[in-house]
Amino acid sequence: MKLALLLLRLLPPEISHFVALNALNFLYKSNLTSILFPYEDASEPFKFKSLTFKNRLGIAAGLDKNGDFIDSLGALGFGFIEVGTITPLAQPGNPKPRIFRFPGQGAIVNRLGFNNKGVDYLVKKIKLRSFSGILGVNIGANKTSEGQKRIDDYVECFKKVCPYADYITINISSPNTPNLRSLHQEENFLPLFEALSLARNETKYLNPIFIKLSPDEGEQITTVILAATKKFEFDGVITSNTTVKKDNLRYSGQLNLDGGLSGKPLLDKSNELLKLAHSHEPHLLKIGVGGVDSKESFNSKLEIGASLVQIYTSFIFHGPGIVKKLLR
Ligand SMILES: Cc1cc2nc3c(=O)[nH]c(=O)nc-3n(C[C@H](O)[C@H](O)[C@H](O)COP(=O)(O)O)c2cc1C
Repeated sequence: MKLALLLLRLLPPEISHFVALNALNFLYKSNLTSILFPYEDASEPFKFKSLTFKNRLGIAAGLDKNGDFIDSLGALGFGFIEVGTITPLAQPGNPKPRIFRFPGQGAIVNRLGFNNKGVDYLVKKIKLRSFSGILGVNIGANKTSEGQKRIDDYVECFKKVCPYADYITINISSPNTPNLRSLHQEENFLPLFEALSLARNETKYLNPIFIKLSPDEGEQITTVILAATKKFEFDGVITSNTTVKKDNLRYSGQLNLDGGLSGKPLLDKSNELLKLAHSHEPHLLKIGVGGVDSKESFNSKLEIGASLVQIYTSFIFHGPGIVKKLLR
């Protein structure tokens, strides 16, 4: 396993992710996943609304944007999988290179920019899944959509995925789609929240809706958004997306590192946001994500208010073995 991970690191990051996920799919289809990656799950199930999570560990949005790997990821033991971010239309994302790995620091910087195959493709994939755990869908807007069209994009994705999603995440925090984070401003998120609330009523969607927050917005903006999350009766927040701040990452100044930083250097920052969210809105559900790569960092999120925890970067560096480590 260690050798496979080392070999994967020799490939450019995006190719390596592609190869690794397709290899997982191959192992799953050959019924080899449980033999090669056994895990023991002594977790108590966690219940929220009508959902039962078999454990509190999930895979974060962005790893399986199009729902191509739901079953193979599910077979590794995750209690829940969040697919997306998905947009109404397929789009290529930003020019490459757009993922940069820092294995020594357990960190990644990405500026993918919501590359995805579009919501209709995702829905087809979800319908075909056999994974019986909780499936969340993370939704966003196309890069070229502005103003009302941007709101319409979220509503379109919401309506298309709601018959199949155990929960829906509203992603207003990606740093890689121009202006997306302006949705943290009240004049922008209020019309979006109103439109989604209306869509929820129209579709009679009863499952949870979460808002995914940025760790870069500061206390004042964040508290306003938390209060609005509660007011619109959304169910919780995901803290956090990647950060644009690279102050605690060591790298050569010549490298263009525009984009969001994830992994170990994000742990404290995402935990601060989680604490803030929990102190202001203790009754909202919190999903903690950012920098979890050990049982200790996993527990740190649960101790400060998260009910559920997601990982992304540590899965890239440690492979499926991380699931066993965190669930033990
Ligand atoms: C390559 C990459 C792509 C990502 N894509 C998305 C995305 O499409 N939507 C989203 O909400 N978050 C996305 N994220 C953010 C993760 O879901 C997560 O919030 C963040 O990486 C922090 O968790 P980690 O430190 O465990 O990686 C992405 C992260 C990475 C590294």
